[in-house]
Order: sequence, then C-alpha cells, then structure tokens
Amino acid sequence: MPRQPVDVIKRYLEDAIAAEKNFESQLRDFAEEGHHSHIQRLFARHADETRSQYERLTNRLHALGGSPSGMKSMLAHMFGSMPKVAQIGHDDAEQVTQNILMAYTVEQSEIAMYEALAAAAAAAGDNVTESLAREIQSEERRTADLLWQELPRAARSSFDEVTGRRTMTP
Ligand SMILES: [Fe+2]
Repeated sequence: MPRQPVDVIKRYLEDAIAAEKNFESQLRDFAEEGHHSHIQRLFARHADETRSQYERLTNRLHALGGSPSGMKSMLAHMFGSMPKVAQIGHDDAEQVTQNILMAYTVEQSEIAMYEALAAAAAAAGDNVTESLAREIQSEERRTADLLWQELPRAARSSFDEVTGRRTMTP
C-alpha cells in the first residue's frame, strides 16, 4: 500500500535528526583533540550549529505530528563508526588531519542527505521542509568549504610533527 507523503517526510526528518545528533557528539570530541585552536573552534562552532540544526528539524517534525524515533539511521551509524576506523595506523599528530578529513566526508554526506530531503519535500508539496533542508544544506556547504581550506595546512603540520620536518632523500 502506498505510504502517505507526510509519513515519508517524517521518516526523512527522523533520519536527519539521528544523523545530526550523532555528529554533534563527534564534533565535540574533535573540538577537544589536538592543539590547533582555530581548528578546535571551527569544530566547536559547527557542533553548536549542528545542535541548532537538529532542533529546527525536530520542530518541523513536531509540526507534522511526528516525534524523533530514537532509531539510528544508516548515516548516523556511519558517522558514529568512521572516526575510529580512520585513526587506525596513524600517529597522534595526524589525528587532527584525520578529524578534518572525516568531518569533511560527513559534511558532504549531509549535503547529499539534505538534497534528498529537499527533493522529497518538494515532491510532497511541503515548501516549509524544503526550505529548511536548503537552509541547513547551505550551512553544511559553508563548513565543508572551511574544512577543505584547513586540510592542506593541517596535513603539512602533521607531517612536520611526525617527521621532525625531514623530507625524503632520494
Ligand atoms: Fe549538520
């Protein structure tokens, strides 16, 4: 039996809420690690933004008559397990680079997640959810851009720390 459009949108919202909640705690951990204060601030700021994102999503879900299910979406699982996997085989000094890389990957997944939500909401004629998805998507894009800019510098500084600034000899 076909499902009601509103139920489909509620499911998308629940998934996004679960993913954002999971990512907020990852970001708080990232903000504690390393000693690059501007990168730590970037993580802390986006953790706050992420909290505001799932609050806005939760408000919308309530307005549609739903409530967060507590069920973990596929993305939430992915966000939860990636960082530990990424750090296997890396020195401590490389952790910040790995954190940026992971956070960048999560942001890109979120951009895709909100693209799907926006498209489904548009198909359902739910303009409010569509513009919320677009608004959050542009916040994720901004963060992804900032992380991308930080990546080479962090990789360089990790390299220097791990090697004692030695370059390769032929
Ligand atoms: Fe987010």
